Amino acid sequence: MPEVLLEPRRSVLANAALRRTFAIISHPDAGKTTLTEKFLLYSGAVQAAGAVKAREGRRRVTSDWMVMEQERGISITSTALQFVYRDHTVNLLDTPGHRDFSEDTYRVLAAADAAVMVLDVAKGIEAQTLKLFEVCRARRLPIITFLNKCDRPGIPPLELLDEIQAKIGLRPTPVTWPVGIPGDFRGVIDRRSGVFIRFSRTIRGSSMAPEEEVSRERAADEEGSAWISSDEEADLLSGIGADLDLRSFLAGDSTPLFVGSALTNFGVRHLLDALVELAPAPGPRMDVAGRPRELSAPFSGFVFKIQANMNPSHRDHVAFVRVCSGEFERGEQLTHGPTGRLFGTKYAASMFGADRNTVERAYPGDVVGLVNASDLRIGDTLYSQDPVKFPAIPTFAPELFATARPKDSSRYKQFRKGLEQLEQEGVVQVLHDPQGDPAPILAAVGEMQFEVLTHRLAAEYGAPVDLVHTPHRLARRTDEATAKALSAIRGVKVLRRGDGTLLAAFESPYWLERLQADHPDWLFASIVTE
Ligand code: G4P
Repeated sequence: MPEVLLEPRRSVLANAALRRTFAIISHPDAGKTTLTEKFLLYSGAVQAAGAVKAREGRRRVTSDWMVMEQERGISITSTALQFVYRDHTVNLLDTPGHRDFSEDTYRVLAAADAAVMVLDVAKGIEAQTLKLFEVCRARRLPIITFLNKCDRPGIPPLELLDEIQAKIGLRPTPVTWPVGIPGDFRGVIDRRSGVFIRFSRTIRGSSMAPEEEVSRERAADEEGSAWISSDEEADLLSGIGADLDLRSFLAGDSTPLFVGSALTNFGVRHLLDALVELAPAPGPRMDVAGRPRELSAPFSGFVFKIQANMNPSHRDHVAFVRVCSGEFERGEQLTHGPTGRLFGTKYAASMFGADRNTVERAYPGDVVGLVNASDLRIGDTLYSQDPVKFPAIPTFAPELFATARPKDSSRYKQFRKGLEQLEQEGVVQVLHDPQGDPAPILAAVGEMQFEVLTHRLAAEYGAPVDLVHTPHRLARRTDEATAKALSAIRGVKVLRRGDGTLLAAFESPYWLERLQADHPDWLFASIVTE
Protein backbone atom coordinates (compact mmCIF):
# COMPACT_ATOMS: atom_id res chain seq x y z
CA MET A 1 0.00 0.00 0.00
CA PRO A 2 1.52 3.35 -0.90
CA GLU A 3 1.38 6.09 1.69
CA VAL A 4 -1.02 8.93 1.12
CA LEU A 5 0.90 11.26 -1.16
CA LEU A 6 2.02 14.34 0.66
CA GLU A 7 3.10 17.02 -1.72
CA PRO A 8 4.55 20.41 -1.02
CA ARG A 9 2.09 23.24 -1.82
CA ARG A 10 2.76 24.45 -5.32
CA SER A 11 0.67 26.47 -7.71
CA VAL A 12 -1.97 24.65 -9.74
CA LEU A 13 0.10 25.15 -12.89
CA ALA A 14 3.25 23.78 -11.26
CA ASN A 15 1.32 20.78 -10.00
CA ALA A 16 -0.29 20.16 -13.38
CA ALA A 17 3.08 20.32 -15.12
CA LEU A 18 4.25 17.46 -12.87
CA ARG A 19 1.28 15.24 -13.65
CA ARG A 20 1.15 12.42 -16.19
CA THR A 21 -2.18 10.68 -16.64
CA PHE A 22 -2.30 7.67 -18.90
CA ALA A 23 -4.02 4.36 -19.53
CA ILE A 24 -2.51 1.03 -20.54
CA ILE A 25 -4.29 -0.71 -23.37
CA SER A 26 -3.48 -4.26 -24.28
CA HIS A 27 -4.86 -7.63 -25.21
CA PRO A 28 -5.51 -9.88 -22.18
CA ASP A 29 -2.29 -11.68 -21.24
CA ALA A 30 -0.01 -9.24 -23.05
CA GLY A 31 1.39 -8.26 -19.65
CA LYS A 32 -0.53 -5.22 -18.45
CA THR A 33 -0.84 -6.45 -14.86
CA THR A 34 2.83 -7.38 -14.71
CA LEU A 35 3.87 -4.04 -16.17
CA THR A 36 1.64 -2.15 -13.74
CA GLU A 37 3.29 -3.99 -10.91
CA LYS A 38 6.73 -3.15 -12.26
CA PHE A 39 5.80 0.52 -12.50
CA LEU A 40 4.95 0.36 -8.81
CA LEU A 41 8.28 -1.36 -8.13
CA TYR A 42 10.31 1.23 -10.05
CA SER A 43 8.47 4.10 -8.41
CA GLY A 44 9.12 2.68 -4.96
CA ALA A 45 5.38 2.32 -4.26
CA VAL A 46 5.97 -1.36 -3.52
CA GLN A 47 9.22 -2.77 -2.17
CA ALA A 48 9.38 -5.96 -4.17
CA ALA A 49 7.47 -7.22 -7.14
CA GLY A 50 5.17 -9.96 -5.97
CA ALA A 51 4.21 -7.94 -2.90
CA VAL A 52 1.04 -6.97 -4.68
CA LYS A 53 0.56 -9.80 -7.09
CA ALA A 54 1.26 -12.82 -4.95
CA ARG A 55 2.15 -16.03 -6.80
CA GLU A 56 -0.80 -17.66 -5.17
CA GLY A 57 -3.98 -15.63 -5.49
CA ARG A 58 -2.60 -13.86 -8.52
CA ARG A 59 -3.92 -10.70 -10.09
CA ARG A 60 -4.58 -8.70 -7.01
CA VAL A 61 -2.61 -5.82 -8.34
CA THR A 62 -5.15 -3.46 -9.74
CA SER A 63 -8.82 -3.75 -10.26
CA ASP A 64 -9.22 -7.46 -10.05
CA TRP A 65 -11.26 -7.37 -6.91
CA MET A 66 -14.48 -8.47 -8.45
CA VAL A 67 -15.23 -12.13 -8.04
CA MET A 68 -16.00 -12.61 -11.68
CA GLU A 69 -12.78 -11.00 -12.72
CA GLN A 70 -10.87 -13.34 -10.48
CA GLU A 71 -12.71 -16.36 -11.80
CA ARG A 72 -12.18 -15.43 -15.40
CA GLY A 73 -8.81 -13.82 -15.01
CA ILE A 74 -9.80 -10.76 -16.98
CA SER A 75 -9.92 -7.19 -15.96
CA ILE A 76 -13.40 -5.78 -16.31
CA THR A 77 -13.54 -2.59 -14.32
CA SER A 78 -11.29 0.40 -14.26
CA THR A 79 -9.38 1.75 -11.36
CA ALA A 80 -6.95 4.59 -10.95
CA LEU A 81 -3.55 4.09 -9.39
CA GLN A 82 -1.28 6.93 -8.39
CA PHE A 83 2.47 6.84 -7.83
CA VAL A 84 5.41 9.23 -7.84
CA TYR A 85 8.27 8.78 -10.28
CA ARG A 86 11.11 11.28 -10.71
CA ASP A 87 9.14 13.97 -8.87
CA HIS A 88 6.18 13.46 -11.15
CA THR A 89 2.79 12.28 -9.96
CA VAL A 90 1.72 9.56 -12.34
CA ASN A 91 -1.94 8.56 -12.61
CA LEU A 92 -2.44 5.19 -14.21
CA LEU A 93 -5.98 4.46 -15.34
CA ASP A 94 -6.76 0.80 -15.82
CA THR A 95 -8.73 -0.29 -18.87
CA PRO A 96 -10.45 -3.59 -19.54
CA GLY A 97 -8.50 -5.66 -22.02
CA HIS A 98 -11.25 -6.95 -24.25
CA ARG A 99 -13.14 -5.47 -27.17
CA ASP A 100 -16.47 -6.31 -25.51
CA PHE A 101 -15.70 -3.56 -23.04
CA SER A 102 -14.49 -1.05 -25.58
CA GLU A 103 -17.19 1.32 -24.36
CA ASP A 104 -15.64 1.32 -20.92
CA THR A 105 -12.22 1.85 -22.47
CA TYR A 106 -13.55 4.82 -24.41
CA ARG A 107 -14.70 6.45 -21.21
CA VAL A 108 -11.37 5.85 -19.50
CA LEU A 109 -9.47 7.22 -22.48
CA ALA A 110 -11.58 10.38 -22.26
CA ALA A 111 -9.90 10.92 -18.89
CA ALA A 112 -6.33 10.08 -20.02
CA ASP A 113 -3.75 12.34 -21.65
CA ALA A 114 -1.79 9.47 -23.20
CA ALA A 115 -1.85 5.69 -23.54
CA VAL A 116 0.70 2.90 -23.35
CA MET A 117 -0.04 0.15 -25.85
CA VAL A 118 1.43 -3.15 -24.65
CA LEU A 119 1.94 -5.81 -27.31
CA ASP A 120 3.09 -9.37 -26.78
CA VAL A 121 6.06 -9.79 -29.13
CA ALA A 122 4.85 -13.28 -30.02
CA LYS A 123 1.34 -12.14 -30.93
CA GLY A 124 1.40 -8.58 -32.24
CA ILE A 125 -1.97 -6.88 -32.63
CA GLU A 126 -4.73 -9.38 -32.06
CA ALA A 127 -8.12 -9.19 -33.72
CA GLN A 128 -10.17 -9.09 -30.53
CA THR A 129 -8.38 -5.98 -29.33
CA LEU A 130 -8.03 -4.13 -32.60
CA LYS A 131 -11.09 -2.10 -31.69
CA LEU A 132 -9.48 -0.90 -28.45
CA PHE A 133 -6.48 0.40 -30.35
CA GLU A 134 -8.74 2.00 -32.94
CA VAL A 135 -10.65 3.75 -30.15
CA CYS A 136 -7.39 5.18 -28.93
CA ARG A 137 -6.43 6.26 -32.39
CA ALA A 138 -9.82 7.86 -32.99
CA ARG A 139 -9.25 10.07 -29.95
CA ARG A 140 -5.79 10.95 -31.34
CA LEU A 141 -4.30 10.22 -27.96
CA PRO A 142 -0.52 10.15 -27.92
CA ILE A 143 0.42 6.46 -27.69
CA ILE A 144 3.69 4.97 -26.45
CA THR A 145 4.18 1.35 -27.52
CA PHE A 146 5.87 -1.33 -25.42
CA LEU A 147 6.84 -4.58 -27.13
CA ASN A 148 6.68 -6.97 -24.20
CA LYS A 149 7.95 -10.50 -23.58
CA CYS A 150 11.12 -10.00 -25.62
CA ASP A 151 12.71 -12.60 -23.33
CA ARG A 152 10.72 -15.20 -25.25
CA PRO A 153 10.72 -16.26 -28.89
CA GLY A 154 8.49 -14.01 -30.95
CA ILE A 155 7.82 -12.29 -34.26
CA PRO A 156 10.83 -10.35 -35.60
CA PRO A 157 10.39 -6.78 -34.30
CA LEU A 158 10.74 -5.24 -37.79
CA GLU A 159 7.67 -7.23 -38.85
CA LEU A 160 5.76 -5.94 -35.85
CA LEU A 161 6.52 -2.37 -36.88
CA ASP A 162 4.87 -3.06 -40.24
CA GLU A 163 1.88 -4.59 -38.50
CA ILE A 164 1.34 -1.58 -36.22
CA GLN A 165 1.50 0.73 -39.22
CA ALA A 166 -0.79 -1.42 -41.36
CA LYS A 167 -3.43 -2.30 -38.77
CA ILE A 168 -3.88 0.91 -36.85
CA GLY A 169 -2.22 3.46 -39.08
CA LEU A 170 0.22 4.57 -36.43
CA ARG A 171 3.87 5.15 -37.44
CA PRO A 172 6.21 3.40 -34.98
CA THR A 173 9.43 5.20 -34.11
CA PRO A 174 11.58 2.86 -32.00
CA VAL A 175 13.48 4.60 -29.23
CA THR A 176 15.06 1.39 -27.99
CA TRP A 177 15.84 -1.62 -30.12
CA PRO A 178 16.55 -5.17 -28.91
CA VAL A 179 20.01 -6.65 -28.87
CA GLY A 180 19.72 -10.39 -29.18
CA ILE A 181 16.80 -12.08 -30.86
CA PRO A 182 13.54 -12.62 -28.97
CA GLY A 183 14.29 -15.54 -26.70
CA ASP A 184 17.91 -14.43 -26.28
CA PHE A 185 17.30 -10.87 -25.21
CA ARG A 186 20.43 -9.22 -23.83
CA GLY A 187 19.60 -5.57 -23.73
CA VAL A 188 18.75 -2.62 -25.93
CA ILE A 189 20.34 -0.02 -28.10
CA ASP A 190 19.18 3.37 -26.95
CA ARG A 191 18.80 4.93 -30.40
CA ARG A 192 19.05 8.44 -28.96
CA SER A 193 22.62 7.88 -27.74
CA GLY A 194 23.61 4.79 -29.73
CA VAL A 195 24.91 3.01 -26.61
CA PHE A 196 24.13 -0.54 -25.59
CA ILE A 197 22.27 -1.00 -22.30
CA ARG A 198 22.90 -4.49 -21.00
CA PHE A 199 20.37 -5.92 -18.58
CA SER A 200 20.85 -8.60 -15.95
CA ARG A 201 18.14 -10.79 -14.60
CA THR A 202 16.99 -10.88 -11.00
CA ILE A 203 15.02 -13.77 -9.59
CA ARG A 204 11.58 -13.61 -11.24
CA GLY A 205 12.14 -9.89 -11.69
CA SER A 206 11.46 -9.22 -8.02
CA SER A 207 13.82 -6.24 -7.91
CA MET A 208 14.98 -3.70 -10.49
CA ALA A 209 17.00 -5.12 -13.36
CA PRO A 210 20.65 -4.06 -13.07
CA GLU A 211 21.67 -2.09 -16.16
CA GLU A 212 25.12 -1.53 -17.57
CA GLU A 213 25.93 1.08 -20.19
CA VAL A 214 28.32 -0.43 -22.73
CA SER A 215 30.13 1.52 -25.44
CA ARG A 216 29.56 0.54 -29.09
CA GLU A 217 33.11 -0.84 -29.38
CA ARG A 218 32.76 -3.02 -26.31
CA ALA A 219 29.30 -4.13 -27.39
CA ALA A 220 30.67 -5.27 -30.76
CA ASP A 221 33.43 -7.11 -28.95
CA GLU A 222 31.35 -8.75 -26.30
CA GLU A 223 28.03 -9.42 -28.03
CA GLY A 224 29.36 -10.24 -31.51
CA SER A 225 26.73 -11.00 -34.14
CA ALA A 226 23.79 -10.13 -31.81
CA TRP A 227 25.11 -6.58 -31.57
CA ILE A 228 26.02 -6.33 -35.27
CA SER A 229 22.60 -7.33 -36.56
CA SER A 230 20.83 -5.09 -34.04
CA ASP A 231 23.02 -2.17 -34.98
CA GLU A 232 22.31 -2.81 -38.66
CA GLU A 233 18.57 -2.83 -38.01
CA ALA A 234 18.88 0.40 -36.03
CA ASP A 235 20.69 1.92 -39.05
CA LEU A 236 17.91 0.72 -41.30
CA LEU A 237 15.35 2.42 -39.03
CA SER A 238 17.29 5.68 -39.30
CA GLY A 239 17.42 5.19 -43.07
CA ILE A 240 13.64 5.04 -43.31
CA GLY A 241 13.21 7.99 -40.96
CA ALA A 242 11.64 5.98 -38.11
CA ASP A 243 13.07 8.41 -35.57
CA LEU A 244 11.38 9.83 -32.51
CA ASP A 245 9.26 12.77 -33.57
CA LEU A 246 7.63 14.57 -30.66
CA ARG A 247 5.25 16.63 -32.72
CA SER A 248 3.66 13.72 -34.58
CA PHE A 249 3.59 11.68 -31.35
CA LEU A 250 1.62 14.42 -29.60
CA ALA A 251 -0.71 14.64 -32.60
CA GLY A 252 -1.38 10.90 -32.34
CA ASP A 253 0.29 10.07 -35.67
CA SER A 254 3.48 8.34 -34.58
CA THR A 255 4.28 6.16 -31.57
CA PRO A 256 7.60 6.03 -29.73
CA LEU A 257 8.33 2.34 -29.32
CA PHE A 258 10.21 0.62 -26.51
CA VAL A 259 11.16 -3.02 -26.25
CA GLY A 260 11.47 -5.09 -23.12
CA SER A 261 10.17 -7.70 -20.80
CA ALA A 262 7.94 -6.75 -17.91
CA LEU A 263 8.62 -10.09 -16.25
CA THR A 264 12.38 -9.58 -16.02
CA ASN A 265 12.05 -5.76 -15.71
CA PHE A 266 14.09 -5.24 -18.88
CA GLY A 267 13.15 -1.93 -20.43
CA VAL A 268 10.69 -0.89 -17.71
CA ARG A 269 12.79 2.09 -16.65
CA HIS A 270 13.07 3.38 -20.23
CA LEU A 271 9.32 3.20 -20.55
CA LEU A 272 8.67 5.07 -17.30
CA ASP A 273 11.26 7.68 -18.25
CA ALA A 274 9.47 8.15 -21.56
CA LEU A 275 6.19 8.75 -19.75
CA VAL A 276 7.78 11.53 -17.76
CA GLU A 277 9.87 12.96 -20.62
CA LEU A 278 7.64 12.50 -23.67
CA ALA A 279 4.01 12.14 -22.58
CA PRO A 280 2.10 15.40 -22.26
CA ALA A 281 1.17 17.04 -18.97
CA PRO A 282 -2.52 17.92 -18.60
CA GLY A 283 -3.54 20.88 -20.72
CA PRO A 284 -6.63 23.11 -20.82
CA ARG A 285 -9.75 21.06 -21.61
CA MET A 286 -12.30 22.22 -24.17
CA ASP A 287 -15.84 22.84 -22.97
CA VAL A 288 -18.97 22.07 -25.02
CA ALA A 289 -18.62 25.34 -26.87
CA GLY A 290 -14.99 24.58 -27.77
CA ARG A 291 -13.55 27.13 -25.34
CA PRO A 292 -10.58 26.01 -23.25
CA ARG A 293 -11.01 25.78 -19.48
CA GLU A 294 -7.65 27.05 -18.34
CA LEU A 295 -5.76 24.90 -15.84
CA SER A 296 -5.58 27.79 -13.40
CA ALA A 297 -9.34 28.41 -13.48
CA PRO A 298 -11.34 27.33 -10.40
CA PHE A 299 -11.92 23.61 -9.95
CA SER A 300 -13.65 21.65 -12.69
CA GLY A 301 -13.81 17.97 -13.54
CA PHE A 302 -16.02 15.36 -15.12
CA VAL A 303 -17.24 11.90 -14.19
CA PHE A 304 -15.81 9.21 -16.45
CA LYS A 305 -16.61 6.11 -14.45
CA ILE A 306 -19.24 4.96 -11.97
CA GLN A 307 -18.72 1.88 -9.90
CA ALA A 308 -21.15 0.48 -7.36
CA ASN A 309 -20.73 -2.24 -4.77
CA MET A 310 -16.93 -2.14 -4.86
CA ASN A 311 -16.98 -3.21 -1.29
CA PRO A 312 -19.65 -5.88 -0.79
CA SER A 313 -19.67 -5.35 2.98
CA HIS A 314 -21.04 -1.85 2.59
CA ARG A 315 -22.98 -1.13 -0.55
CA ASP A 316 -21.55 1.97 -2.05
CA HIS A 317 -21.35 3.96 -5.17
CA VAL A 318 -18.17 5.65 -6.35
CA ALA A 319 -17.98 8.25 -9.10
CA PHE A 320 -14.49 8.69 -10.56
CA VAL A 321 -13.83 12.31 -11.49
CA ARG A 322 -10.95 13.50 -13.63
CA VAL A 323 -9.76 16.89 -12.45
CA CYS A 324 -9.50 19.33 -15.38
CA SER A 325 -8.73 22.67 -13.74
CA GLY A 326 -7.98 24.23 -10.39
CA GLU A 327 -7.38 22.59 -7.06
CA PHE A 328 -9.69 20.01 -5.58
CA GLU A 329 -9.92 20.29 -1.83
CA ARG A 330 -11.79 17.66 0.11
CA GLY A 331 -14.86 19.08 1.79
CA GLU A 332 -15.34 21.89 -0.71
CA GLN A 333 -18.87 22.31 -2.02
CA LEU A 334 -18.94 21.92 -5.78
CA THR A 335 -21.74 22.56 -8.23
CA HIS A 336 -23.16 19.58 -10.10
CA GLY A 337 -23.51 20.91 -13.66
CA PRO A 338 -26.65 19.07 -14.84
CA THR A 339 -28.78 19.93 -11.79
CA GLY A 340 -27.10 23.08 -10.54
CA ARG A 341 -27.20 21.58 -7.02
CA LEU A 342 -24.36 21.83 -4.54
CA PHE A 343 -22.38 18.67 -4.04
CA GLY A 344 -20.38 17.97 -0.86
CA THR A 345 -17.01 16.25 -1.20
CA LYS A 346 -16.35 15.08 2.32
CA TYR A 347 -16.01 11.49 1.13
CA ALA A 348 -13.29 11.75 -1.47
CA ALA A 349 -10.81 8.98 -2.03
CA SER A 350 -7.95 7.97 -4.23
CA MET A 351 -7.96 4.33 -5.21
CA PHE A 352 -5.42 1.60 -5.03
CA GLY A 353 -7.20 -1.52 -6.19
CA ALA A 354 -9.98 -2.05 -3.69
CA ASP A 355 -8.22 -0.04 -1.01
CA ARG A 356 -8.92 3.59 -0.51
CA ASN A 357 -7.00 6.52 0.81
CA THR A 358 -8.73 9.72 1.70
CA VAL A 359 -7.59 12.38 -0.72
CA GLU A 360 -7.22 15.90 0.64
CA ARG A 361 -6.14 17.71 -2.50
CA ALA A 362 -5.97 16.93 -6.18
CA TYR A 363 -4.82 18.75 -9.30
CA PRO A 364 -5.45 18.63 -13.05
CA GLY A 365 -4.80 15.12 -14.30
CA ASP A 366 -5.66 13.46 -10.99
CA VAL A 367 -8.60 11.17 -10.41
CA VAL A 368 -10.77 11.56 -7.37
CA GLY A 369 -13.23 8.89 -6.29
CA LEU A 370 -16.35 10.46 -4.81
CA VAL A 371 -17.96 7.95 -2.50
CA ASN A 372 -21.73 7.68 -2.24
CA ALA A 373 -22.26 10.02 -5.13
CA SER A 374 -25.42 8.37 -6.35
CA ASP A 375 -26.69 11.51 -8.12
CA LEU A 376 -23.72 11.64 -10.46
CA ARG A 377 -23.82 10.19 -13.97
CA ILE A 378 -21.10 9.42 -16.48
CA GLY A 379 -20.13 12.59 -18.36
CA ASP A 380 -21.43 15.00 -15.67
CA THR A 381 -19.38 18.12 -15.02
CA LEU A 382 -18.63 19.36 -11.50
CA TYR A 383 -17.22 22.82 -10.94
CA SER A 384 -16.47 25.49 -8.42
CA GLN A 385 -17.33 29.19 -8.97
CA ASP A 386 -17.19 29.71 -12.74
CA PRO A 387 -19.68 27.40 -14.48
CA VAL A 388 -18.40 25.11 -17.23
CA LYS A 389 -19.82 22.17 -19.14
CA PHE A 390 -17.57 19.56 -20.68
CA PRO A 391 -18.75 17.56 -23.70
CA ALA A 392 -20.53 14.26 -23.08
CA ILE A 393 -18.52 11.08 -23.57
CA PRO A 394 -19.72 9.50 -26.81
CA THR A 395 -21.23 6.01 -26.57
CA PHE A 396 -20.93 3.32 -29.20
CA ALA A 397 -23.86 2.18 -31.31
CA PRO A 398 -24.85 -1.19 -29.78
CA GLU A 399 -24.54 -4.40 -31.77
CA LEU A 400 -26.33 -6.89 -29.52
CA PHE A 401 -29.82 -6.76 -28.06
CA ALA A 402 -31.68 -8.96 -25.58
CA THR A 403 -35.02 -8.79 -23.80
CA ALA A 404 -34.59 -9.03 -20.02
CA ARG A 405 -37.01 -10.55 -17.50
CA PRO A 406 -36.43 -11.55 -13.88
CA LYS A 407 -36.38 -15.33 -13.45
CA ASP A 408 -38.34 -14.88 -10.22
CA SER A 409 -41.13 -12.32 -10.55
CA SER A 410 -41.17 -11.73 -6.77
CA ARG A 411 -37.69 -10.15 -7.22
CA TYR A 412 -38.99 -7.59 -9.71
CA LYS A 413 -38.16 -4.59 -7.52
CA GLN A 414 -34.55 -5.71 -7.07
CA PHE A 415 -34.33 -6.49 -10.79
CA ARG A 416 -35.44 -2.93 -11.64
CA LYS A 417 -33.07 -1.40 -9.12
CA GLY A 418 -30.14 -3.49 -10.34
CA LEU A 419 -30.82 -2.64 -13.97
CA GLU A 420 -31.02 1.03 -13.17
CA GLN A 421 -27.73 0.93 -11.30
CA LEU A 422 -25.90 -1.12 -13.90
CA GLU A 423 -27.15 1.13 -16.67
CA GLN A 424 -25.84 4.09 -14.73
CA GLU A 425 -22.45 2.42 -14.54
CA GLY A 426 -22.57 1.93 -18.29
CA VAL A 427 -22.55 -1.89 -18.10
CA VAL A 428 -25.32 -2.02 -20.73
CA GLN A 429 -27.81 0.39 -22.26
CA VAL A 430 -31.44 -0.13 -21.25
CA LEU A 431 -34.05 0.48 -23.96
CA HIS A 432 -37.80 0.11 -24.28
CA ASP A 433 -39.99 -0.67 -27.24
CA PRO A 434 -42.64 2.06 -27.06
CA GLN A 435 -45.03 -0.01 -29.17
CA GLY A 436 -44.46 -3.51 -27.93
CA ASP A 437 -43.44 -5.72 -25.04
CA PRO A 438 -42.95 -3.68 -21.84
CA ALA A 439 -39.91 -5.80 -20.83
CA PRO A 440 -36.69 -3.80 -21.13
CA ILE A 441 -34.39 -4.51 -24.06
CA LEU A 442 -30.72 -4.42 -23.16
CA ALA A 443 -28.17 -3.28 -25.69
CA ALA A 444 -24.42 -3.89 -25.70
CA VAL A 445 -21.32 -3.79 -27.87
CA GLY A 446 -20.08 -7.21 -26.72
CA GLU A 447 -21.59 -10.39 -25.31
CA MET A 448 -19.46 -10.21 -22.18
CA GLN A 449 -21.34 -7.08 -21.11
CA PHE A 450 -24.44 -9.30 -20.84
CA GLU A 451 -22.48 -11.87 -18.87
CA VAL A 452 -21.33 -9.23 -16.41
CA LEU A 453 -24.88 -7.94 -16.06
CA THR A 454 -26.31 -11.42 -15.50
CA HIS A 455 -23.66 -12.21 -12.92
CA ARG A 456 -24.00 -8.93 -11.05
CA LEU A 457 -27.82 -8.91 -11.03
CA ALA A 458 -27.76 -12.32 -9.36
CA ALA A 459 -24.80 -11.72 -7.04
CA GLU A 460 -25.43 -8.14 -5.96
CA TYR A 461 -29.21 -7.80 -6.23
CA GLY A 462 -30.41 -11.38 -5.78
CA ALA A 463 -32.30 -11.07 -9.05
CA PRO A 464 -31.29 -13.73 -11.59
CA VAL A 465 -32.30 -12.70 -15.09
CA ASP A 466 -33.46 -14.40 -18.28
CA LEU A 467 -32.05 -12.83 -21.42
CA VAL A 468 -33.48 -13.59 -24.84
CA HIS A 469 -31.54 -12.19 -27.78
CA THR A 470 -33.43 -10.29 -30.46
CA PRO A 471 -32.37 -10.69 -34.09
CA HIS A 472 -31.02 -7.13 -34.34
CA ARG A 473 -27.38 -6.65 -35.24
CA LEU A 474 -26.73 -2.93 -35.26
CA ALA A 475 -28.36 0.34 -34.29
CA ARG A 476 -28.27 4.00 -35.18
CA ARG A 477 -29.47 7.07 -33.32
CA THR A 478 -32.47 8.59 -35.01
CA ASP A 479 -35.06 11.35 -34.54
CA GLU A 480 -38.85 11.43 -34.06
CA ALA A 481 -39.61 12.06 -37.74
CA THR A 482 -37.46 9.17 -38.97
CA ALA A 483 -38.79 6.93 -36.15
CA LYS A 484 -42.34 7.56 -37.32
CA ALA A 485 -41.48 6.66 -40.90
CA LEU A 486 -39.61 3.54 -39.73
CA SER A 487 -42.54 2.18 -37.72
CA ALA A 488 -44.09 0.78 -40.91
CA ILE A 489 -40.90 -0.94 -42.10
CA ARG A 490 -40.09 -4.59 -41.40
CA GLY A 491 -36.69 -5.60 -39.97
CA VAL A 492 -36.28 -2.33 -38.06
CA LYS A 493 -37.29 -1.69 -34.46
CA VAL A 494 -37.35 1.74 -32.91
CA LEU A 495 -36.33 1.72 -29.26
CA ARG A 496 -36.20 4.48 -26.69
CA ARG A 497 -33.56 4.98 -24.04
CA GLY A 498 -34.39 6.36 -20.57
CA ASP A 499 -32.93 9.76 -21.52
CA GLY A 500 -35.28 9.96 -24.51
CA THR A 501 -32.69 9.05 -27.17
CA LEU A 502 -34.26 7.06 -30.02
CA LEU A 503 -32.40 4.13 -31.52
CA ALA A 504 -33.30 2.32 -34.73
CA ALA A 505 -32.18 -1.33 -34.46
CA PHE A 506 -31.63 -3.29 -37.69
CA GLU A 507 -31.53 -7.01 -38.34
CA SER A 508 -28.95 -6.55 -41.07
CA PRO A 509 -26.56 -3.82 -42.19
CA TYR A 510 -28.07 -4.26 -45.64
CA TRP A 511 -31.40 -2.80 -44.41
CA LEU A 512 -29.65 0.22 -43.04
CA GLU A 513 -27.65 0.78 -46.23
CA ARG A 514 -30.79 0.55 -48.32
CA LEU A 515 -32.79 2.93 -46.18
CA GLN A 516 -29.89 5.39 -46.15
CA ALA A 517 -29.70 5.24 -49.95
CA ASP A 518 -33.46 5.60 -50.42
CA HIS A 519 -33.98 8.29 -47.79
CA PRO A 520 -30.93 10.51 -47.52
CA ASP A 521 -32.91 12.94 -45.34
CA TRP A 522 -33.55 10.40 -42.55
CA LEU A 523 -31.27 10.51 -39.51
CA PHE A 524 -29.04 7.49 -38.83
CA ALA A 525 -26.15 8.57 -36.57
CA SER A 526 -23.48 6.12 -35.45
CA ILE A 527 -22.45 8.10 -32.37
CA VAL A 528 -25.27 7.59 -29.92
CA THR A 529 -24.58 10.28 -27.31
CA GLU A 530 -23.11 13.57 -28.42
P1 G4P B 1 -2.56 -9.05 -18.54
O1 G4P B 1 -2.68 -8.24 -17.29
O2 G4P B 1 -2.25 -8.22 -19.74
O3 G4P B 1 -3.67 -9.99 -18.79
O4 G4P B 1 -1.25 -9.98 -18.41
P2 G4P B 1 -0.40 -10.42 -17.13
O5 G4P B 1 0.47 -9.32 -16.68
O6 G4P B 1 -1.28 -11.08 -16.14
O7 G4P B 1 0.56 -11.48 -17.83
C1 G4P B 1 0.07 -12.65 -18.44
C2 G4P B 1 1.11 -13.74 -18.37
O8 G4P B 1 2.26 -13.32 -19.11
C3 G4P B 1 1.60 -14.04 -16.95
O9 G4P B 1 1.95 -15.41 -16.91
C4 G4P B 1 2.86 -13.21 -16.85
O10 G4P B 1 3.78 -13.69 -15.90
C5 G4P B 1 3.40 -13.35 -18.25
N1 G4P B 1 4.28 -12.24 -18.63
C6 G4P B 1 4.07 -10.91 -18.49
N2 G4P B 1 5.11 -10.21 -18.97
C7 G4P B 1 6.01 -11.12 -19.41
C8 G4P B 1 7.32 -11.02 -20.00
O11 G4P B 1 7.86 -9.96 -20.21
N3 G4P B 1 7.91 -12.19 -20.34
C9 G4P B 1 7.34 -13.41 -20.12
N4 G4P B 1 8.02 -14.49 -20.47
N5 G4P B 1 6.13 -13.54 -19.54
C10 G4P B 1 5.48 -12.41 -19.19
P3 G4P B 1 1.10 -16.51 -16.17
O12 G4P B 1 1.77 -17.80 -16.41
O13 G4P B 1 -0.32 -16.35 -16.56
O14 G4P B 1 1.20 -16.09 -14.66
P4 G4P B 1 2.41 -16.21 -13.61
O15 G4P B 1 2.24 -17.54 -13.02
O16 G4P B 1 3.68 -16.01 -14.34
O17 G4P B 1 2.15 -15.11 -12.63
